[in-house]
Amino acid sequence: METIRAKLAEFGQEHLLYGFDTLPADRQTSYLAALSELDLAYIKKLSENAHVSPTLGGAITPSPSTRASDLTTEETAELTAIGKQLIASNTVAVVTMAGGQGTRLGYDGPKGCFDVGIGIPLFGLIASRIAALQAETGGVLPWYIMTSNENHEKTVAFFRDNKFFGLNPADVFFFPQGQLPLVSTDGKILLAEIGRVAEGPDGNGGVFAALLASGALADMEKRGIRQVFVCGIDNALVRPADPLFLGFFERDGAPCASKSVAKASPEERVGAFCVKDGHPCVIEYTELTPEMRQARNDAGLLTYGDANIVTHLMRFDALKTLCTRGLPMHTAFKAIPHYLPGQGQITPKEPNAYKFESFIFDAFSALDRMAILQVTREAEFAPVKNATGNDSPATALALLRQNGY
Ligand code: UTP
Repeated sequence: METIRAKLAEFGQEHLLYGFDTLPADRQTSYLAALSELDLAYIKKLSENAHVSPTLGGAITPSPSTRASDLTTEETAELTAIGKQLIASNTVAVVTMAGGQGTRLGYDGPKGCFDVGIGIPLFGLIASRIAALQAETGGVLPWYIMTSNENHEKTVAFFRDNKFFGLNPADVFFFPQGQLPLVSTDGKILLAEIGRVAEGPDGNGGVFAALLASGALADMEKRGIRQVFVCGIDNALVRPADPLFLGFFERDGAPCASKSVAKASPEERVGAFCVKDGHPCVIEYTELTPEMRQARNDAGLLTYGDANIVTHLMRFDALKTLCTRGLPMHTAFKAIPHYLPGQGQITPKEPNAYKFESFIFDAFSALDRMAILQVTREAEFAPVKNATGNDSPATALALLRQNGY
C-alpha cells in the first residue's frame, strides 16, 4: 500500500486513493493490484504530448489503386475463383474489431448487437456472409472478434443466445483489447467511481497487441492461416473474406491490401490512402491542403480520393511482424463521465478529458507498399456511426434495401 501511495504521489495521482478506506477488503486488494499495473510514467508522457499529432508531416503523394470496375469480366471471375480456392484450403481468417465504444450511435450495448432495422444485428450480417462462403467453398473461415473490457461479456452472451448464428462455436474467438486510463486536461487520471480508474479501449490499433496477447495469433498459426481479413463492426455491407479481394491480394503479392471507396466529394471528412515518405498510409482530411483535396487526375477523379473503409487484408507473416511493433498514440478530447473526489458523479456536457488511442492504419507506414482495391460505395459501404443523419441506421438500412435485403 505504501509503495503504491508513494508511486501515485510521485506522479500527482494520489486522488486515486480517495475513499479507499470505505471499500470492502476484497475490493481494496483488487484495486491495489490494478493501480500497481498502471504505467504512470507512460501516461504522464501521453498527457504531456496530448496536443502533438504523432504522425503529422512528411512528403505526401497519391496512392496507386485499382478500381474493381476497371477489371474485365474474365479477370474478376479469375480473381474470385482464386479467392474461393484460398477459402476452400482453410488458409483465410476473419478479424472483426468490435471493441469501440460507439458513443456517437448511443446504443446501450455492443455495436455488433445493434440491428439497423432488417431484423439481423450487425454481428449476424457478418456471420451470415461467413456461413455462405463456408457453404459455397467447403472451407472454414475462423472468426476472431475483438471486444473491450466493457462489452466482452455482453458480446459473448449475445453469440450464445443467438446460437452463434449457425457458425461452429469452435471457429469463433473473442479477444478483449487493451485499455488505457482517461485523463483530465491537467494530467489527472479520472476515477470511474471510488476504487475504479476510468479507462477506455486503446483504439483499433490495439488489435495487434491484443491478437498477440490473447493467443489468437498463435491459434491462427496453428491452423495454417496465411491471409487475414480485418474489418470494423460498423459497415453493414462489409464482405468478410471477399473472394475477389482475396484473389486481387494474392495476385498482387503485397504484404497488405485495403479496400477503398471513391471519396463522395473533395470535402468529405474521411481518411484517404496516400504514400508518405515512400510508405503507404492513411491521411486524415485535415492533413490535406485545400489544393490537394481538390486535385484531380487526367481521368477527372480526385487524386487523393481513395477513402479508407477499414477493410484490410494482411499476409500472416506481415501481421505477425506488425503485432510486435508499437504504434503512435493519438489523443481524442471527449466528454467523460467520472467521479470527482469531494463532488461525486459528474456527467460533463462538454469535452473534459483525453482518451488515448492508436489506429490500425498507422501500421501501414511500416510497409514498403500495399495494394488498394477501390470498390463501389453503394454496394459495399454502409457505415453505422451516428444516431441520425449521415452514416446512421437509417442510411445503412436504405443501402441494405438497395442491395437486396
Ligand atoms: P470508430 O473510430 O468509428 O469508433 O471505430 P467507435 O467506437 O465505433 O465509435 P465512436 O467514435 O465512439 O462513436 C471504427 C472501428 O474500430 C473499432 C470499432 O468497433 C469500429 O469497428 N474500434 C474502435 C475498436 O475495436 N476499438 C477501439 O478502441 C476503437
